[in-house]
Amino acid sequence: MNGAGPRILVFAGSIRAGAFSGKTADAAVRELALQGAAVTRISLADYPLPLMNQDLERESGVPEPAVRLAHMIAAHDGLLIATPEYNASVPPLLKNTIDWVSRVNQDRQGQPFRAFKGKVMALCSSSNGNYAGIRAINHLRAILVHCGAEVISPQCSVPRGQDAFDDEGNFRDDALRKSMANVCRALIERAGLTRA
Ligand SMILES: Cc1cc2nc3c(=O)[nH]c(=O)nc-3n(C[C@H](O)[C@H](O)[C@H](O)COP(=O)(O)O)c2cc1C
Repeated sequence: MNGAGPRILVFAGSIRAGAFSGKTADAAVRELALQGAAVTRISLADYPLPLMNQDLERESGVPEPAVRLAHMIAAHDGLLIATPEYNASVPPLLKNTIDWVSRVNQDRQGQPFRAFKGKVMALCSSSNGNYAGIRAINHLRAILVHCGAEVISPQCSVPRGQDAFDDEGNFRDDALRKSMANVCRALIERAGLTRA
């Protein structure tokens, strides 16, 4: 699924089978590819991390999956994250992953490095309710801006995930299709401008 456009990394904040955020991420992958991006879809299941504990960090350093993910992010021009909402905020899997990645401070050559610094990002959210994860996406935006990311304004929030997708994983609602297309267009445009 490789276009000639900017390299965009996509992942969801849930590793649940059939996760609505996973389906939202997949919809983003299809739309990004349609619009010409070179897309990489990963699952956080392939980046298992212990709960952040600074004793662990002091004793053994940042775990290898977080280092791998930090360099994976750095190797892309842009990042799209699809988050679920837990208790009106970001789920622990996603927050823990961001916290560990934010502790990677050297690149492979030992030079100072922050994976999120200046990284162009787009956010999507979903939930099983009418709020569509809008509270989680606001918290996620604040966290990533704190980490130095450039989070674009357009976002796509998917309410009632259990009804939102057809059998092919496409949005049933035309407004959601347009919203996702708009997010992807803005992400590709901005990531293309800041491309290394
Ligand atoms: C601990 C927990 C807290 C939740 N809190 C919210 C919430 O605040 N708002 C909401 O819309 N849904 C909430 N949900 C329901 C999730 O939207 C729903 O389980 C969703 O399927 C999870 O995301 P996923 O499908 O991407 O795994 C919560 C679910 C869990 C497990």
